[in-house]
Amino acid sequence: MRVGVTLLVVLLLVCSSLCVVTTRNQYILVDGQPFFMTGATYSIIPTGKIPDSAPDSAANTTYGRGIWMRDINNMKAIGGNTLRVYSMESADHTAFYDYAYANGIKLIVSMWVTYQNFSDPTIRSNLLSSWTAFVKKERHPAILMWCFGNELNIGGNGDGPLFNIMKDVRNVVQTYDTPNPRPVTTTFADRDLSSTISTFYSQSSGFDVFSFQIYRGNTFYNLFKDFNATVKLQKPLLITEFGCDAFDNNNNREDQTQHANWNMKLWNEIYSNSAICAGGLSFNYADEWWRCDKTRPSVHKNCGNTASASFDNYWNEEWSGLYSVAPNPTSGGPDILTPRSIVTNLTKLWSNSPYPKDILTTIPPKPTPTSSSSYITCNSMLLVMLMIVWFMAM
Ligand SMILES: *[C@@H]1O[C@H](CO)[C@@H](O)[C@H](O)[C@H]1NC(C)=O
Ligand SMILES: *[C@@H]1O[C@H](CO)[C@@H](O)[C@H](O)[C@H]1NC(C)=O
Ligand SMILES: *[C@@H]1O[C@H](CO)[C@@H](O)[C@H](O)[C@H]1NC(C)=O
Ligand SMILES: *[C@@H]1O[C@H](CO)[C@@H](O)[C@H](O)[C@H]1NC(C)=O
Repeated sequence: MRVGVTLLVVLLLVCSSLCVVTTRNQYILVDGQPFFMTGATYSIIPTGKIPDSAPDSAANTTYGRGIWMRDINNMKAIGGNTLRVYSMESADHTAFYDYAYANGIKLIVSMWVTYQNFSDPTIRSNLLSSWTAFVKKERHPAILMWCFGNELNIGGNGDGPLFNIMKDVRNVVQTYDTPNPRPVTTTFADRDLSSTISTFYSQSSGFDVFSFQIYRGNTFYNLFKDFNATVKLQKPLLITEFGCDAFDNNNNREDQTQHANWNMKLWNEIYSNSAICAGGLSFNYADEWWRCDKTRPSVHKNCGNTASASFDNYWNEEWSGLYSVAPNPTSGGPDILTPRSIVTNLTKLWSNSPYPKDILTTIPPKPTPTSSSSYITCNSMLLVMLMIVWFMAM
């Protein structure tokens, strides 16, 4: 009897840490409960470094730990639940993942892919073998979702080949991320989104979740309605990048109040559309000083371009963080981060999920389940275990 109970407890623990992320209709479910995403995109290039030559900030080095422990602690303290990392195909990230997992921060991990001719058999098979290696290497319970590349719909070949390769991308995850494959997505730039979705939705079996990156201004306009007109609550939508920078280019100064107002207007729209949208990620977590001029990454600069995405109609590349950064007076130490005023607003907003507690009872079952199989498998596994324990107890 005692052996049986111990076995059950162990299996429950194993199962609850593994059988986690699925989708059902417009919701992402973690351990069967709807999960509303809050957080930021996280590209972790500190001041003085450039992406081309920076050491891997997610690696388990003194340098890396100084950065990711700080940031996971911050995210946890302000109530965000997710970070999206862009390019994770290099070093061993187990320690970073362990720390995120232990602190309840979920990760969307991406393999870096630039736009290519996805119809070309050689390109396709090379990409899929890199993707396979990536999935096998990065598998960790901290991962919420797999992301193939970034903004691949802005290539020149039309979106059919992208929807097509995603089917194989998802198959790789189904094969190697076992026994409970996590959802798969790729992010879309804001280009012809409603026509892309209405044209290709019937071919979207390679997507568990749609991810859009939107910089339209201080509103998403009809985005949610347009999406729902085609998808009709059958797949989750995330806004995986959005926001404005904190620099007022007209007056040549930082303006944290306008930054907070503008970004909060967008966050509030995401919350009020939670019937369609499963959450969002601010672009981005912290300022990055390499963006204007890679020869001067230790200097905070004001370059940018005209863009309706920002309150001053100008996007300043090095000012998009929820946190501003300053170099550490100790050489080699992590940047000193200072939360911009929006962080106070976000902490308050993020402390409550827009989902009612009994939300699952309000969702009709999906007509043709796509990625709910692992959840069912896991439940049936538990049922079998319970029966075994019951027999052992007799
Ligand atoms: C990370 O590095 C620390 C310090 O060297 C070590 O104690 C720890 O075991 C490492 N963790 C992993 C998962 O490699
Ligand atoms: C992409 O590859 C396919 C298959 O090899 C080829 O037919 C097509 O012309 C290529 N498209 C472009 C834009 O190069
Ligand atoms: C989304 O579409 C479904 C199906 O057409 C509809 O029943 C629902 O009211 C729409 N939801 C919203 C919030 O517009
Ligand atoms: C942000 O928080 C500050 C301080 O609590 C408050 O005065 C302000 O109205 C909030 N702004 C928004 C847009 O919610």
